Amino acid sequence: MTINWILERVEESASTNEDLMSRWRDGALWEPVARVAAKQSAGRGRMGRSWVSHANQALTFSVAYPFKKPIAELSGLSLACGLGVIKGISEGTGIAEESLKELGLGLKWPNDIFLGEAKLGGMLIEGGQINTTQPTWLVIGIGINLITDLTIEQNIGRSMASTSQITNASKIDADVLWLSIIKELGNILETFEKSSFKAFQSEWNEWDIFKNQVCQISQQDKISIEGIERGVDDAGHLLIETANGVERVISGDVSLRKSS
Ligand code: BTN
Repeated sequence: MTINWILERVEESASTNEDLMSRWRDGALWEPVARVAAKQSAGRGRMGRSWVSHANQALTFSVAYPFKKPIAELSGLSLACGLGVIKGISEGTGIAEESLKELGLGLKWPNDIFLGEAKLGGMLIEGGQINTTQPTWLVIGIGINLITDLTIEQNIGRSMASTSQITNASKIDADVLWLSIIKELGNILETFEKSSFKAFQSEWNEWDIFKNQVCQISQQDKISIEGIERGVDDAGHLLIETANGVERVISGDVSLRKSS
């Protein structure tokens, strides 16, 4: 069974995540929905940051999906969704996953999609369960850069990657990419519903861009753990091998960086 997404496309939205979150708060979500905006004026990122993109220069969309499980049983979902994005990019570009890996496509714990050393896209998951008789509605928002924008690079102070670096085509068709990603995401969500992150653990570890590298975990700019990154466990927790043994990082509200 594949998910029959209700498809919504708008020219402009403040935030596609907020659009679906406000519907969830109003009890107005009934079926799985996928909503894409050509332009977002107040895109949200993780940890209270904003997500800035210009019209048609990034694929910005959110899906809302009703899980039958409580949120406590959805550990590692965002990591599994990262695999869905990779599979969608492969289908949407016609480039095999192994070739994409050779080009430098990969995942950074917990929610980022990287191309080489730069971020290609990110994900923000919000939502929850209002009471135990209700499904757990999760709003999964994804932003993927289609072309590299120099003004945004200057503003964020680091280089960004875009799908234009993946193919020779002048620009990947954003609609094809969107439909491919939501199809693959749908498969991932259905598998996750029936099993758990365990079904995705080994595949995620193969796409982990920092595996076996010396890394640091920091919170509010203070380094809390430093050691060798050893991928994730079967709940999606990050494993860092330190002098005192393996530490498990559970919270996603931290920054992971390669040690310099
Ligand atoms: C991050 O990397 O911090 C997460 C970025 C998530 C951005 C997407 S764009 C579509 C959706 N709507 C939002 O407001 N945010 C997400």
